[in-house]
Amino acid sequence: MTTEAPDYNGAARGWDQLEFLIRPVAGAIVERLPDPAPGAFVLDLGCGTGEPGLTVKTRHPAVRLLGVDRADLMVEIARAKARSLGFGDTAFETRLMSDTAVAPASVDLLVSRFAFLMLDHQALELSLAEAIRVMRPGAAYSFAVWDRSELNTLITLFRSVLGGFPGGASLPDPSAINYLAEPGYRAHLLLRAGVTNVEEASLSWDARIPDRESLVGVLEHSPFGVFLKSLEPAARAEAVSRITEGAVAYREPDGGYRSPTTCRLFGGRR
Ligand SMILES: C[S@@+](CC[C@H](N)C(=O)[O-])C[C@H]1O[C@@H](n2cnc3c(N)ncnc32)[C@H](O)[C@@H]1O
Repeated sequence: MTTEAPDYNGAARGWDQLEFLIRPVAGAIVERLPDPAPGAFVLDLGCGTGEPGLTVKTRHPAVRLLGVDRADLMVEIARAKARSLGFGDTAFETRLMSDTAVAPASVDLLVSRFAFLMLDHQALELSLAEAIRVMRPGAAYSFAVWDRSELNTLITLFRSVLGGFPGGASLPDPSAINYLAEPGYRAHLLLRAGVTNVEEASLSWDARIPDRESLVGVLEHSPFGVFLKSLEPAARAEAVSRITEGAVAYREPDGGYRSPTTCRLFGGRR
């Protein structure tokens, strides 16, 4: 089983076009954090183009933010966004979650959206140990992870269709990390690693896509977009057609799509 995280560099340029699909999540992560003291140090693990760290910084401008991500194009975009928002005391660096180069016990708030505790087991244990190392005792954490893959309906549809095309079997399989979504398992990992408490909640919403063209845009900007582009034109057209047929189940009378989505939120103290 490979559960290696995909290389997100290929998806970086279009990543923010997908933000509308997961918009409620950054807010929910931030709402579960205590109000930070001025100057509090916030670490965003697997920050992509800057979320949820930039939402923390927007709501609490006096914090210092560092976001780390292994995809350098993601980091470049996050930096540009921070600059355009006028956030001087904000840094984004190309680093692994398992090796953040952050001083021990220096982080006051740790956040992450769909990156931390989503990887294969070995990388997960290393990034968990790193999170514990960098959080000061009593630091707060709040992060979102996917629940079982079938509750992330669009991505599951994309993968199940594309998996049937030449080379598609080696695409990352969202169901490969379903073992992490077993009730209590992530909480157990966090407690075993050394956090003081874990509060877990479910967050469900309907991602709304206005029309077929936008649905195809979501597919092209998703982490599967690079694979889609690599297909021969006829195969690509066939893949798009099968995916839009599969999405008929979520079709609304106005021609848009309503994609029910669920993730899990974890929060607590180191
Ligand atoms: C699903 S994206 C989420 C990005 C961002 N947090 C958001 O919500 O928009 C996952 C991100 O985690 C990053 N990532 C995956 N494995 C990583 C690792 N071991 N160390 C650092 N970043 C990693 C990827 O490059 C990608 O940008």
